[in-house]
Amino acid sequence: MQAYQIKAGQQIAGLELVQRSIPTLAAHDVQVRVHAVSLNYRDLMIAEGTYLRTGDASVIPCSDGAGEVMAIGSAVSRFRVGDRVAASFFPNWMHGEPTPQNTGRSLGGSYDGMLAEEVVLHEDAWVAIPEHLSHVEAATIPCAGVTAWNSLFVEGGLRPGDSVLLLGTGGVSVWALQLAKAAGLRVIITSSSDEKLDRARELGADAAINYTTTPEWQDEVLRLTAGRGVDLVLEVGGRGTLARSVASARMGGTLAIIGGLSGFGGALDPLALIGGAKRLSGIFVGSRRMFEDLNRFLIVAEIHPVVDRVFHFQQATDAYNYLKSSGHFGKVVIDVSQQGR
Ligand SMILES: NC(=O)c1ccc[n+]([C@@H]2O[C@H](COP(=O)([O-])OP(=O)(O)OC[C@H]3O[C@@H](n4cnc5c(N)ncnc54)[C@H](OP(=O)(O)O)[C@@H]3O)[C@@H](O)[C@H]2O)c1
Repeated sequence: MQAYQIKAGQQIAGLELVQRSIPTLAAHDVQVRVHAVSLNYRDLMIAEGTYLRTGDASVIPCSDGAGEVMAIGSAVSRFRVGDRVAASFFPNWMHGEPTPQNTGRSLGGSYDGMLAEEVVLHEDAWVAIPEHLSHVEAATIPCAGVTAWNSLFVEGGLRPGDSVLLLGTGGVSVWALQLAKAAGLRVIITSSSDEKLDRARELGADAAINYTTTPEWQDEVLRLTAGRGVDLVLEVGGRGTLARSVASARMGGTLAIIGGLSGFGGALDPLALIGGAKRLSGIFVGSRRMFEDLNRFLIVAEIHPVVDRVFHFQQATDAYNYLKSSGHFGKVVIDVSQQGR
């Protein structure tokens, strides 16, 4: 079967299409024909060599893929041939708290991931996908969708009527926008593009701020919340946004610390947290249980994740470059079953 592989730090140009053999199935293995794979900012970081815990070996990239079960090992009980599934980002984190053990292995980092025609994983690593979603849509759930769910409702503990600030209109933020509106939350979102802010309003955003033309956007967040601040910020910006995000949170509010789109490092004044009794909560995607809970919500709320653009399997490099250009709104997907250019 065909698969892409990359060595961390080789840049996007290092992506190569190769022939890989499929391992013999162990008793609990499930072999899946991959239909679609979605890209995350993490995949760019891995290509650029800036991601955590990557090794020196070439691996099949990408954590997020969905497909159809084509064969099962002799002892598999969770799935049958023909079932539609997606892989969980951490194949060993089933439920409960994250530990070094259950988060030690993630797909597409130091272990083979999903950008391949076929993938074999232990049955516990797979999750059934909602019937109302296409493979392309379901391929966006494992990293971006689960991270948004964990941030809003598990670590963030939000309830209907609460408010959330989302930064930018990338994969995690647009997923969070859709989930938050379906759950009755008030959403303030930022973007560098007025056109993207219009799209966010169409999806229900209550207020939208252009962070380029309003560089002190935290003041606008405070104005929009009558000086109080929001209950939760999904902090995906990192070094360039963290202090403003802290200022945007209400007294006792939470910052879900997710990413570093503007870079990592930097300094945060502890007084900014102490005076407002604010909490920082590091997010590391989520468990299989969170994925399953999210799926139940997607079914009830009939949510279809926003897919900006779909590339063919042979266009993986183009898809990576498109994600890097930040032209997207929501998710970028590679349709593995589409082989033409
Ligand atoms: N901790 C975790 O478990 C976890 C899980 C998933 C993702 N992440 C991290 O979260 C971040 C987002 O990931 P993603 O896959 O959603 O990224 P993405 O889809 O590539 O997001 C790109 C978008 O981010 C926005 N952006 C860029 N710089 C910004 C800034 N300084 N301020 C506000 N918005 C900015 C831009 O939106 P506009 O074009 O609208 O301006 C851009 O289009 C990344 O750092 C990623 O590594 C972490």
